[in-house]
Amino acid sequence: EARIVARARVVLVGPPGSGKSTIGRKLARELGVELFDTDAGIEAETGRSIPEIFAEDGEPEFRRIEEQVVRRAVLEHEGVVSLGGGSVLSARTREVLRGATVVYLEISVGEGLRRTGSSNARPLLNGADPAAKYRELMKQRRPLYREVATVRVRTDGRSPGRVVRMILARL
Ligand code: S3P
Repeated sequence: EARIVARARVVLVGPPGSGKSTIGRKLARELGVELFDTDAGIEAETGRSIPEIFAEDGEPEFRRIEEQVVRRAVLEHEGVVSLGGGSVLSARTREVLRGATVVYLEISVGEGLRRTGSSNARPLLNGADPAAKYRELMKQRRPLYREVATVRVRTDGRSPGRVVRMILARL
């Protein structure tokens, strides 16, 4: 059986608001490599925004596209890859992540919610009770983030610079 070999130098996972984009940008700069953000990759590939894809085609179709974009990014991109918060829901994606260096940016529910704020950019958190939804997401996903992670970093109350230094020390 052919072994899947991840080429990505580092993959970042974690829930919305855990700082994947900010940390990813800084980490890539420190490592002298490029950042590939899978949410941006999905938007570039489809020519639509993520809220549009959810509204027009629904979450299952979004997840199908996401699985493909994530797979390609992890296998082909040589820099830092930051994954959309729900990517780990896919068992195929978790399989693709085997053998990669995967950093889980841990965040408390309170601070994660504060950081995601009231933006409309995240369709899953747009409902009547974002706090309940976020708690539910975390309950479902925490074991999955832990399963794929090779490094875990707590980000609560830490500056992006501090988090990046902690990651670099553990690569
Ligand atoms: C999602 C997180 C988003 C984006 C989409 C779904 C999720 O990415 O992929 O809205 O299921 O948690 P971020 O983690 O960058 O917010």
